[in-house]
Amino acid sequence: MTFTLENVNLIYDIEKEVQTLALRDVNLTLSGNKLIGILGPSGSGKSSLLYAMAGLRRPTSGNVAYNDRTYGSLSAPALATLRRKEFGFVFQRHFLINYMTVLENLLTPLNKNTGPVREKALSLLERLGIVHAAGKRPYQLSGGQRQRAAIARALMNDPQVIFGDEPTAALDHQSAREVMSLLEEYTAHAMVIIVTHDESILENADTIIRIWDGSIAEIASPKAEGQP
Ligand SMILES: Nc1ncnc2c1ncn2[C@@H]1O[C@H](COP(=O)(O)OP(=O)(O)O)[C@@H](O)[C@H]1O
Ligand SMILES: [Mg+2]
Repeated sequence: MTFTLENVNLIYDIEKEVQTLALRDVNLTLSGNKLIGILGPSGSGKSSLLYAMAGLRRPTSGNVAYNDRTYGSLSAPALATLRRKEFGFVFQRHFLINYMTVLENLLTPLNKNTGPVREKALSLLERLGIVHAAGKRPYQLSGGQRQRAAIARALMNDPQVIFGDEPTAALDHQSAREVMSLLEEYTAHAMVIIVTHDESILENADTIIRIWDGSIAEIASPKAEGQP
């Protein structure tokens, strides 16, 4: 899969007196099953970049394309279908439904509870090490367990791309590392794009995009650089 961003600008509050230029002339091409980090301080435009790539926010000008689909030429429902079929999302807060069990939370997006779908949900929970919590409600879990459940839910539709917006920000260091290794593992099947202000979680990233004040300051491939 390939993302292509051409001259992307994103302005918030364009109709108001005070506007924010959250993305400035961003040009970027990303492809392959890799772990990609988007790194920058708070307010630098990381989430805006992620949302633009995921088709959750339309840029004010410029183009975003995923493979041969140019978002600007897709209707809102077509874009929503693309997201549902191809993308998985993990956010800082888990957004699980608190009155449902973990298993029910996994089944909800697919809107069905058939045998095979249930099996799939259970095997994902098994793989993420929380199958014992399938019948618990999210508030009965630790932060790390909740985030694993959120990842399991994001994987239910076999996404080609996982988008994570600060997925470890609410976790202690150990849980953060575990959540990152699960996401790293998933690069065997998909592109994984992680937004963070914490460089330490990107130690195994294939590509690190540094963003500053809405612009891309640097794109580095740490693993490809000279080994001692
Ligand atoms: N919905 C919004 N309305 C207005 N301004 C916003 C909105 N979302 C983000 N911004 C502003 O856009 C800039 C970039 O924000 P964001 O992409 O969330 O950065 P980051 O994720 O790096 O913290 C910031 O100045 C932020 O205040
Ligand atoms: Mg953000």
